Amino acid sequence: MRIAIYPGTFDPITYGHLDIIERSAALFDKVIVGVADDNYKNNLFSLEERLELVKFQVKKFSNVETKDFKGLLMNFVKKEGACAVIRGLRAVSDFDYEFQMSLMNKKLAADIETVFLMTSSEYLFISSSIIKQVSSLGGCIEGLVPKEVALALKEKYNKIKGI
Ligand code: COA
Repeated sequence: MRIAIYPGTFDPITYGHLDIIERSAALFDKVIVGVADDNYKNNLFSLEERLELVKFQVKKFSNVETKDFKGLLMNFVKKEGACAVIRGLRAVSDFDYEFQMSLMNKKLAADIETVFLMTSSEYLFISSSIIKQVSSLGGCIEGLVPKEVALALKEKYNKIKGI
C-alpha cells in the first residue's frame, strides 16, 4: 500500500490545502494529513481546533486520515510506513524553502520522496495568514475556505475582540 503524508500547520485549512489533498488521494492508496503540533508559528487555533477542522473537511475522502505529529516530520513519516511527503507549490517564492526542506528531509530519510503538486490557479494567492488577516478585518473569504472554517474564524476573532 502506497501511503503519503501531507504535512502542515493548517492554521486553518483552506481550499488550497483541500485541492492538494483531493489530488493526492487520487495518486496514493492512502493519504495522512499530518497536523504539526509544535512549530515556530504563533498559531491562532489550538492543535485540537486545527485537527477538528481538518478532520471534518476530509471525511468525504475514503482514503484520507488526519493525525497530529510532534517533532521531526521524517520520524512521523517512518512511523506511519509512508513512502512520500506531499507538498504544494504556489509560486516560485515557495521553491527555495521547499527545496531546502526536501533536501534536509532526504538527508534524514533517504528512501522517502517529496512529491510536489502545483496548487490550482484559483488558490495560488492564498495562505492561511492572508485568510486570517482578511477575516480579522471583516473581509469576505468566501470561496477560499469552507464555511465551517469561515465560521470558526469569525467566532475566534469575535472572542478575541470580546464581542
Ligand atoms: N494552498 C494554499 N495555501 C497553502 C498551500 C496551498 N496549496 N500550501 C501551503 N499553503 C500555505 C499554508 O497555509 C501556510 O500559510 P501561513 O504561512 O500563512 O500559515 C504557508 O503556505 C506555508 O505552508 P507550509 O509550507 O505547509 O508550512 P507549514 O508551516 O504549514 O508546515 C511543516 C511546515 C509543519 C510541514 C514543517 O515545518 C515541518 O515539517 N515541521 C516538523 C519539524 C521538522 O521535521 N523540521 C525539519 C524539516 S526539514
